[in-house]
Parts: sequence; C-alpha cells; structure tokens
Amino acid sequence: MLEHSYMTDKVKVQRSGIDRRGVFARSTIKKGEVIAVWGGHIITEKEFKRLSRKIFKDIENYATKLADGFYLVSCTKGGLEDDDFFNHSCNPNAGIKGHIMMVAMKNIRAGEEVTYDYCMTDADFACSFACQCGAKNCRKIVTTDDWRKPSLQRKYRGYFSWYIQEKIDRRAKR
Ligand SMILES: C[S@@+](CC[C@H](N)C(=O)[O-])C[C@H]1O[C@@H](n2cnc3c(N)ncnc32)[C@H](O)[C@@H]1O
Ligand SMILES: [Zn+2]
Repeated sequence: MLEHSYMTDKVKVQRSGIDRRGVFARSTIKKGEVIAVWGGHIITEKEFKRLSRKIFKDIENYATKLADGFYLVSCTKGGLEDDDFFNHSCNPNAGIKGHIMMVAMKNIRAGEEVTYDYCMTDADFACSFACQCGAKNCRKIVTTDDWRKPSLQRKYRGYFSWYIQEKIDRRAKR
C-alpha cells in the first residue's frame, strides 16, 4: 500500500513520561539516519482557522508550518497518525532537514524516546505549554517564539526547518 508519510520501522509509538504518547526507538538509530518524513494535507491559513474552530480543535498541536500561510497536517478530521506523536525535548536527539524530514542528531539507543525541539519548526501561531521533558537545561515553558533565542539558533544550526531558518536569516540581515 502507498503511504503518505514515512517512519522508520526502528521506532514505535508508546506511552511517554513526557506527555501522553511519544515515539520510541526499538533499536539503535545512527546519527544522520532518517527517522520520519512527514506527509499529509497542505492547508492554507484560512483552512487552518476553519478546521480549528469546527473539526480539529487542537490542530495547532499537530500542524507543521511550511511557509507563511501554509501548514501540513497528517489528517484534516482530527484523526492522528503515528508520526504525530513526536514530543518536544529541550535536550533532543533528533532534528529537521528541509521541511518535513526528521533525522537523528546523535546516536539513539533502543528504548530512548525520539524527540526534537519544537523551536526547530514552530513560529507565528499560538501554541505554548509547560515543558515536562525533564532535561537539566529544560526551559520550562515552550512557545512558538523560542526560535528567536540566539543560544538555540546556535545550538540547532543545520537542524531548523527551512521555514524557521529563513526567518532566522532574515532577522540576521536586518
Ligand atoms: C505533536 S503532539 C505530541 C504527541 C502528544 N504527546 C500526544 O500524545 O498527542 C504536541 C503536543 O504534545 C504535548 N507535548 C509535547 N512535548 C511536550 C513536553 N515536552 N512537555 C509537555 N507537553 C508536551 C503538547 O501539548 C504539544 O502541543
Ligand atoms: Zn523541556
């Protein structure tokens, strides 16, 4: 069967100590390996707002912003796919390449939760939460403005989505 997204069979979804469900390694994943390629529906800002009002109330928790005015969602009816369950960590082991590809930033051992830092993908829409990642360097509150922090821009260079990297580069030129 053709799939609209990809997840390596080295991971599985299970209950997470961070938040409800998360994605965990079943076996070792090497630095640089592709873990997931997100797919689904491309929706406009107008559609995003309509869905969040009517059908998919917490759509902002599961949408990936691709460009101003465009989002990727795995499903427009509120049903979730396995690749919707990657949790945020302030000490992540995965990062983003391009718009939709998640890769390992370091070797990940079997049993570890696969996480990325949401500042790598999120900006300009309302979503924040009290972080439960448990990392020593946890920033406690995660917001869609975190990509603006110079320390995070340095830490994740090469692992921001195209959309966020463009925003960082534009600010640097000002
Ligand atoms: C893409 S979902 C991740 C999957 C989610 N755990 C679930 O079971 O539906 C994103 C949402 O999960 C929650 N979440 C993810 N990482 C978190 C963290 N480090 N601390 C607290 N909540 C988190 C937040 O509500 C966030 O908006
Ligand atoms: Zn944290």
